[in-house]
Amino acid sequence: MHPFSRSMQVDLHASWWIGPIEIPTRLVLAPMAGVSVQAFRRQGRRYGAGLVCSEMVSCAGLQHRNERTLGYLRIASDERPLAVQLFGSEPEVMAEAAVMVERAGADIVDLNFGCPVKKVTKTGAGATLLEDPERACRIVEGIADAVSTPVTVKMRRGLEDGSRACLELGPRLVEAGATSLTLHPRSARQMYTGEADHSLTAELVRLVDVPVVASGDVTSRARATEIIERTGATAVMVGRAAQGNPWALQEILDGRAGEPSRDEVVAELIVFIRETAGELGEERGTGFLKKFYGWYLGRGRFPKAFKQELVQLATLAEVEARLLAAAPGAHEELARLEAELPDGDDVLLDLPISVYGGG
Ligand SMILES: Cc1cc2nc3c(=O)[nH]c(=O)nc-3n(C[C@H](O)[C@H](O)[C@H](O)COP(=O)(O)O)c2cc1C
Repeated sequence: MHPFSRSMQVDLHASWWIGPIEIPTRLVLAPMAGVSVQAFRRQGRRYGAGLVCSEMVSCAGLQHRNERTLGYLRIASDERPLAVQLFGSEPEVMAEAAVMVERAGADIVDLNFGCPVKKVTKTGAGATLLEDPERACRIVEGIADAVSTPVTVKMRRGLEDGSRACLELGPRLVEAGATSLTLHPRSARQMYTGEADHSLTAELVRLVDVPVVASGDVTSRARATEIIERTGATAVMVGRAAQGNPWALQEILDGRAGEPSRDEVVAELIVFIRETAGELGEERGTGFLKKFYGWYLGRGRFPKAFKQELVQLATLAEVEARLLAAAPGAHEELARLEAELPDGDDVLLDLPISVYGGG
């Protein structure tokens, strides 16, 4: 148990710092591949996340100026503070990618040392780096030298069940220049099964003098508070609980429980659809959005058949019309939301605009 746990009063609204970047709340929105688009991140900020993160971006993709990869560097001003997460295994290539991320306007360069997916680990990237400490440290050092934005690292516990690799590597990464560490204490082998073992988070907190963010199974205010008290972590990260459910962030931050009304759900989903169509374009957006319908409309909010109906529709305009027919009160809610939404000017890069993909 953390020595301060008994007396610690957790104020999730207290700001904290990653290097010179002030993070206004103790809640961080997790990077999630195929989920963490701009609409997700902007929504996360509106509902109280103090820091949001892009999904992992391929350094090799940036090196080769792959159009879709470059699209991940689109950053709107109202997302900030924002981290862009990179994955790769070649220190020089990663340092160059980090410079691009900094130029794109990210406040923080985060490094993925946790992805358990074979396609990534077989290239020496992601979770593989947990057991390749020399390379991992060279990557952090190289990037810390190349950019002036803070460099942070997100890790799993190790490759195999029971591994404690993160505890050996963590302090070395800090020495190499990491200004904050996030730990998702599952092994790569575990993927998402079992439970995150936050006793490791508590150990890591004691070993390093930079902020540690606890990731894994944070689903409620009670859980968030308990994890911070038990581990001494500076902040918690929320992933799956926020999919189609920004209200979870509100509950964690303010304890404001209660399910959103159907009108609120539909209005948020429509804003999400519109922003995603703007980012990815109508065609790519149509396929991308399908999984979100289940996330928003599930949880007992709408009958299952309704989601099935939406995924069959060919255009996003039809999806919107069908949603509004099912929750007519959402018109008013939507108008209110749209009026309140920040402008979110895109930060411009010195690359031709056509490379950003989408609209
Ligand atoms: C669909 C999905 C995609 C993810 N993609 C990433 C990623 O790109 N980078 C990363 O560091 N973690 C990724 N993660 C891990 C999450 O950031 C987080 O650590 C993990 O889901 C545990 O938190 P949770 O229990 O709150 O979901 C992903 C998780 C999910 C479910």
